[in-house]
Amino acid sequence: MKAKEMTHTVKALFAGDKGLLAMDESIPTCNKRFEEAGIPQTIEYRRKYRQLIVTTPNLGKVISGAILFDETIHQSTDDGVPFIDMLKKAGVVPGIKVDEGTMDLAGFPGEKITMGLDGLKERLSKYFDMGARFAKWRAVITIGSVIPSRGCIEANMHALARYAALCQEAGIVPIVEPEVLMDGAHDLKRCFDATIKTQHILFDQLFAQNVNLKWLILKPNMVLPGLSYAKPASIDKVAEATVNCLLQSVPPVVPGVAFLSGGQSAEDATAHLNAMHVKYKGKLPWALTFSFARAIQQPALEIWKGKDENVAEAQKMLYFRASLDNAARRGEYTPEMEK
Ligand code: G3H
Repeated sequence: MKAKEMTHTVKALFAGDKGLLAMDESIPTCNKRFEEAGIPQTIEYRRKYRQLIVTTPNLGKVISGAILFDETIHQSTDDGVPFIDMLKKAGVVPGIKVDEGTMDLAGFPGEKITMGLDGLKERLSKYFDMGARFAKWRAVITIGSVIPSRGCIEANMHALARYAALCQEAGIVPIVEPEVLMDGAHDLKRCFDATIKTQHILFDQLFAQNVNLKWLILKPNMVLPGLSYAKPASIDKVAEATVNCLLQSVPPVVPGVAFLSGGQSAEDATAHLNAMHVKYKGKLPWALTFSFARAIQQPALEIWKGKDENVAEAQKMLYFRASLDNAARRGEYTPEMEK
């Protein structure tokens, strides 16, 4: 077991007020975002976009780790520098998404199971040799009138625990991402109930699979009402519900929690993270940071529009959003900073 390596990785990922950047959209998801922004959906445009991100000036000042997708980890800049080397040079730890997406879970209508355990041991060892020091696996839990079911949660949390054990065997720090989706008209209480149940079962499964929690990062959803629920919850209510949920399910030995943004606006995701730090500063056993994709990338993508002449402005926006999330980690973010 590469204990020292994993201890070092965890420390680097939570350093200062930095956080993680998820840039690991699968090909269909990246293409969907490009289509919405009017950008051609080709391998070259995906490479250009990821190049824009990894060459952002001073990226390592605001981002501690970047999660790549398999296509991206094999790509290079126009000058032939592998993206993974660009990140390392910038002081950003390279990570890799290793799940292979979701499929319908047999016997559980409306629910999904994440694939990717087959051959994972070999893939992890290859990624470690390439320089990846942490990994990500996302499980999705859907809220509906009679779901999530226990069967779906258990199957997904078992897979997450098996993945985490394989990562640690390879010297790679696992990010476990049990995402309770925002889609739906449910209220905050239903999200809280589904999230706490999911996290309890997750830690039970991690224990059963001998995963060492000191080399593990939890990437949860924040506790929010569904996207089509009539009344939005206040920033403070979301912060309180999210932290209360974590306090009741995440053991203190876990070094840190890095939230996904899950379809919140960039401003809301930042404000929620900030409110958690304002209210609970110095009172929590684990570090709280961000591991956003859309909440950091979306404004930059909309500026870039696939055009070379917009790269510098898009990079400024990417850096700006990440720096606001740094401020949120310090509990110093204010909406006025958006201007
Ligand atoms: O798996 C999802 C990503 O890592 C986080 O994406 O911040 O857009 O929800 P998001």
